[in-house]
Amino acid sequence: MLQADAEVHCHAKIMRMTEADPDEAALREAGAILAAGGLVAFPTETVYGLGGNALDPEASRRIYAAKGRPSDNPLIVHIASIDALDRIAAEVPETAKRLASQCWPGPLTMIFRKREIVPDETTGGLDSVAVRFPSNRIASLLIRYAGGYVAAPSANTSGRPSPTTAAHVIEDLRDAVDCIIDGGPVEIGLESTIVDFTVTPPVILRPGYINQEMLTELIGTVDMDPGIQSESENIRPKAPGMKYRHYAPKAELTIVSGTQKNAAERIAALVHEQIKAGRKAGIICSDETKEMYPEGTVWSLGARTEETQIAAHLYGILRACDTAGVDVIYSEAFRTPQLGDAIMNRLTKAAGHRIIDADEKDEQI
Ligand code: TXA
Ligand code: MG
Repeated sequence: MLQADAEVHCHAKIMRMTEADPDEAALREAGAILAAGGLVAFPTETVYGLGGNALDPEASRRIYAAKGRPSDNPLIVHIASIDALDRIAAEVPETAKRLASQCWPGPLTMIFRKREIVPDETTGGLDSVAVRFPSNRIASLLIRYAGGYVAAPSANTSGRPSPTTAAHVIEDLRDAVDCIIDGGPVEIGLESTIVDFTVTPPVILRPGYINQEMLTELIGTVDMDPGIQSESENIRPKAPGMKYRHYAPKAELTIVSGTQKNAAERIAALVHEQIKAGRKAGIICSDETKEMYPEGTVWSLGARTEETQIAAHLYGILRACDTAGVDVIYSEAFRTPQLGDAIMNRLTKAAGHRIIDADEKDEQI
């Protein structure tokens, strides 16, 4: 069945529009594709999503197949109004309602006990459901036209960085989906913050644009899942998807932390060694340091004072490293004030936890 589908839908239909002026007729058509069990990739404010009808088990199966994703890794259900929450989630605590009214629509996903109507295929067999109300207007219109409940993981093939432009989606999924909506580059560039409300106090399972400090200010204590930054095999992250090696470029990536000067000098020395050994080396840095690297292919994520730009450029540059065919990559660390947790979480995973501290003189590499 899936094979036949793949042959019929050899190339996805591409719809182009802007968030400021969404093409309602096209979105109605894309919504009908979703309602009929098809797959539509669409922009959100965080990253592009690969959508299917969340209440249709067959659509969820098709999502897993299209991404090449393990089917025990649950999907986020996207809604287009706060009222839509009650039909799929049970036991929504007061604190979560408060958060919904403050942060939705926006880059926040909340996890609750699921209701019967949500198929096991969508939640990877869990009895909880992750729910998000995205703020992107193209996304919210599409969700409405699709019937109100759209399951959507990031629209990358499993193991690649999440897509922040339609070109990334086309690269990964052009033959695996029915339609791709090109709404231009996304705003944030990192996936939503995930907060688990099936426990008290609630726990952050994935850091994002809405950070721990903001959440605590709004609803009091919110813990951070210790599995998020841990290298230990024994401390497993609670979100099934966080355990997979994600966001990984093909080249071996190493993060070099430390003061700006120490980190840049250490990276320059490491790059020099690699090039001498005949390897092609890439550097991920910032506008402040990009002139400090005489060798290697240099990519700046932007100015450190503009952390939203750093976040927005990260995945595109990890993809560019693949295209450039570098063998090794060294990246500066980006522990910026608001988005530092989210940026370093993604970067550390991309690096498979390889971090060198350039401030330490005699460390073993
Ligand atoms: O920003 C986003 O959240 C994007 C856009 C498209 O909305 N979506 C996204 O979905 O990042 P995905 O599937 O790539 O990541 C969802 C993460 C996975 O790590 C998954 O394991 C976790 O959420 N998750 C989903 N449902 C869960 C549940 N019931 N309990 C625990 N973790 C859950
Ligand atoms: Mg993903």
